[in-house]
Amino acid sequence: MKTSLNTWLATDWPLIQAPMAGVQGSALALAVCAAGALGSLPAAMLSPEQLRAELAALRAGTTRPYNVNFFCHPPPLPDAGRDAAWRAQLAADYAAFGLAPEAGDRAPARRPFDAAAAALLAEFRPPVVSFHFGLPQAELLAQVKAWGACVMSSATTVDEARWLRANGADVIIAQGLEAGGHRGMFLSDDPRTQIGTFALLPQVVRAVDCPVVASGGIADAAGVRAALALGAAGVQVGTAFLLCPEATTSALHRAALQSADAAHTALTNLFTGRPARGIVNRFMRRHGPLNPAVPAFPLAAAAVAPLRAAAEAQGRSDYSPLWAGQNVSGCRALPAAQVVQALVAGLVA
Ligand SMILES: Cc1cc2nc3c(=O)[nH]c(=O)nc-3n(C[C@H](O)[C@H](O)[C@H](O)COP(=O)(O)O)c2cc1C
Repeated sequence: MKTSLNTWLATDWPLIQAPMAGVQGSALALAVCAAGALGSLPAAMLSPEQLRAELAALRAGTTRPYNVNFFCHPPPLPDAGRDAAWRAQLAADYAAFGLAPEAGDRAPARRPFDAAAAALLAEFRPPVVSFHFGLPQAELLAQVKAWGACVMSSATTVDEARWLRANGADVIIAQGLEAGGHRGMFLSDDPRTQIGTFALLPQVVRAVDCPVVASGGIADAAGVRAALALGAAGVQVGTAFLLCPEATTSALHRAALQSADAAHTALTNLFTGRPARGIVNRFMRRHGPLNPAVPAFPLAAAAVAPLRAAAEAQGRSDYSPLWAGQNVSGCRALPAAQVVQALVAGLVA
């Protein structure tokens, strides 16, 4: 099916596999590209060396277009007082595992897009680059556009969509409240501004003069068709790929996705400092799901890291981020190509 998105991205299908930091790398992206959709590499949690290796794997593995995704949050200033207050709230949790209150930071960093990343990217010239939490500084964005990359970014409100378009995005991803993982919100941090995919999508389509991609809660072919009927040029799907063998989703995360617990997701800031949707677990029930004392993104990850490691060593996901959207019905432990086929069934290539 030819939509304006296929024209922009040069894919067979108007379908993007959502970049999902922490649960996938180039293997999933390559499988999706081979199936005719746009595969995505999440770069937010990769070191420069890892990013280089993954970009090389993409370049070697496909001649089709692919997407590389970055976070572009303002780096936070460490705040020792806030960190101490938050750790005080977690004291009983730490004690239950016999952890010292100041136990070390083993959380992987979440890096914003910077000059080093732009320089590395310029060596590989990926055809599509997407951002979460707004857009990078104008000079950095200009470097990405210099090789003709299509630039996409997530909007969670109509205002954000207008801002992204005015500041250089070629394609807007309308991320509804159902979506798994972090909210891409960047003009406001008030969760009350967030609305569902099929309320947000038609309003964004009316507000901007570029292709709009629907994201959040889309898990089957009927959902894809419904989004296209509402004016989407394409869809971006994340949760439905989490059980694919090409994803690196942990065994505990996979088990949670296939359990009755997956019916109950919530927005939580406990794991990183920014609201993200995941399956409700013990940590979220005890301290959140939203808690105003949490350190700024991504510093909050440090305090939970020892708890997570201790619980996971006991085979428990009580302190693990179990990112998932509200609609897990599309999750199948099947190769990504089959998930792509299920999503595009009924669309004519
Ligand atoms: C496990 C997980 C990790 C995610 N990580 C990222 C990320 O690194 N960058 C990004 O732009 N979006 C990320 N997202 C959000 C997706 O881009 C997308 O908005 C969401 O998956 C769509 O909703 P769905 O999960 O209901 O399909 C993530 C989503 C999930 C489920």
